[in-house]
Amino acid sequence: MPNFSDRVERISISGIREVFEAAGDDAINLGLGQPDFPTPDHARQAAIDAIEAGKADAYTENKGTRSLREAIAEKHRTDQGIDLDPSNVIATAGGSEALHIALEAHVDAGDEVLIPDPGFVSYDALTKLTGGEPVPVPLRDDLTIDPAAIEAAITDDTVAFVVNSPGNPTGAVSSEEDVREFARIADEHDVLCISDEVYEYTVFEGEHYSPMEFTETDNVVVINSASKLFSMTGWRLGWVYGSEERVERMLRVHQYAQACASAPAQYAAEAALRGDHGVVDEMTASFERRRDLLLDGFDEIGIDCPTPQGAFYAMPRVPEGFVDECLDRGVVVVPGEAFGEHGRGHARISYATDESELREALDVMADAYEAAK
Ligand SMILES: Cc1ncc(COP(=O)(O)O)c(C=O)c1O
Repeated sequence: MPNFSDRVERISISGIREVFEAAGDDAINLGLGQPDFPTPDHARQAAIDAIEAGKADAYTENKGTRSLREAIAEKHRTDQGIDLDPSNVIATAGGSEALHIALEAHVDAGDEVLIPDPGFVSYDALTKLTGGEPVPVPLRDDLTIDPAAIEAAITDDTVAFVVNSPGNPTGAVSSEEDVREFARIADEHDVLCISDEVYEYTVFEGEHYSPMEFTETDNVVVINSASKLFSMTGWRLGWVYGSEERVERMLRVHQYAQACASAPAQYAAEAALRGDHGVVDEMTASFERRRDLLLDGFDEIGIDCPTPQGAFYAMPRVPEGFVDECLDRGVVVVPGEAFGEHGRGHARISYATDESELREALDVMADAYEAAK
């Protein structure tokens, strides 16, 4: 066997794709983590224009074009009142790369990183790639991230904790009070809070808050992305921002691993940020209708599910065997344990699919539930 790094041997390819493939082409797929809307026309057109004008042929600045970073800074000023210097933003290959460079720049072998459990799969894998130790922190019963549980899990080896609101796989949205606590914990314990806000625009009840609004130190970095904000998952354009010093360290990783984010995608994302947000409102309204449809269906079946307040995921409590019974009947849902040990006993259901398919899937889930319970 060739020699592989111990770090890469600690992680494996996510099994979720294999489940999709095994389920066949005519299955109803409630496993996908992307909006089912087209990228806004003005974003597509901006990329076309940039390509035709020859503006997208060359490397951009390592951090991304100045005008994209200005649009990102403007966005955070408008949405959260954050005074962000465009020099302290790095445009990345999606939120995925943003998470990678944030962890790579801050975590050493043996350092502990607290991650939500259940939580997005990359937190565990990317921490392991740095040589660090992911420490899963269980959620509350309503699937929100519990600041007290984070604070209790901090040890001398903890260098960072990850929070994610609205959350994948839970759809949970953190309250202002909890987000203030995240900032306080980062400040008081002098640990980095990595705040993954890629679902920021998909909030049904209440508002989105960022710990960056409340921190009194430089202990917060924010991850965001055009992927879910503007239905641009294929474009691979995200960003990270933080203090000048932290950005300089993250840029060292980004510069050697990536050089710069794809130029056409930068132009498209800038247009999405600066352009009409009507599409975003439409998407959110549509996800909310589908969430309600799904929850009503669960109610009828007798499935217990904390009410998701954002993103496009629900995480009901399901009996053992439910996921397989769904798969056998042609509906793909993801077992909760794919997102951490505490996800066991749940399934993640993505409702980024049309309402008629959702209704069909609910009929199937009713049968699957009867068979499994
Ligand atoms: C919570 C969360 N963070 C980050 C990402 C990364 O998304 P992207 O790399 O497409 O921006 C995802 C994608 O599913 C996600 O669910």
